[in-house]
Amino acid sequence: MIFYLIIFLLITNLILIFTINKNKIKKLIYKSKIKSVNLEKLDSVFINNRIDKNLYGPKHDAIVKNFCIVPGNNIVGMTSDYEAWIISSLSKKSDNIFEFGTCSGKTTFLMALNSPKNANITTLTLGPKNLSELKLSKLDNKVSFRNIVNESIYEKFLFSDTEYENKINVLFENSLNFDENKHVGAFDLIFIDGGHTYSIVKNDSEKSFRMLRQNGIILWHDFVPGKESAKNVVKYINSISKDKKIFHIKNTSLCYYRNN
Ligand SMILES: C[S@@+](CC[C@H](N)C(=O)[O-])C[C@H]1O[C@@H](n2cnc3c(N)ncnc32)[C@H](O)[C@@H]1O
Repeated sequence: MIFYLIIFLLITNLILIFTINKNKIKKLIYKSKIKSVNLEKLDSVFINNRIDKNLYGPKHDAIVKNFCIVPGNNIVGMTSDYEAWIISSLSKKSDNIFEFGTCSGKTTFLMALNSPKNANITTLTLGPKNLSELKLSKLDNKVSFRNIVNESIYEKFLFSDTEYENKINVLFENSLNFDENKHVGAFDLIFIDGGHTYSIVKNDSEKSFRMLRQNGIILWHDFVPGKESAKNVVKYINSISKDKKIFHIKNTSLCYYRNN
């Protein structure tokens, strides 16, 4: 009897320890090969101004136009407010921007709000009508595939019918069929946040490396080791980390590469 009680207590303790330290344990199992850095390493615009001996704040160039989605407005697939601020600040000095994955258009709208007046933003996405073109490949994660279906529901976007819409070119096209040859070396900023399956992340990243101009920046969203739906994003980025200098930005799910 005592023996069974000890076994029972041991198992309950193990479950408790696992539940409390779930994230730490996951991090150990799904090890990232990407170095995490402070935001200032990405760009000098993020180096804070010293306002007082105990107060630091954003530079003028990192003050951005913003909006929030109220909780309860069930918009799917969004960046956090901190990530959105980073993208908005970089948009301020980007004349030509490309985004893989529009979804509701939250990030696209922020890019349009903050980029220079004559900037161009191209955003590539799938609408409900394009879904029949999608196929699961051998290495693709099934949860990520299901998310693509759940996120390809918009035909109008948060920026539709606003004065910013004329800066934005929406392409309803499967990125696997997208021809990047006309855009080689064209973009200052590329945001990869389309399908999170292995075949799509690989395709979107390889095309982005070709489309990036000198000193331009690629940002990947959803680099979260241990998160099932982000598994293929982590796997792909880890796999190219030997050849490309990619960094993870602390306190975000963003990774970046700068072409210099
Ligand atoms: C996570 S959401 C994008 C969120 C958006 N970037 C934002 O920050 O608000 C993913 C988007 O990628 C699109 N997508 C997924 N696979 C794609 C593919 N193969 N080609 C083009 N778009 C794709 C989906 O239709 C969906 O709109």
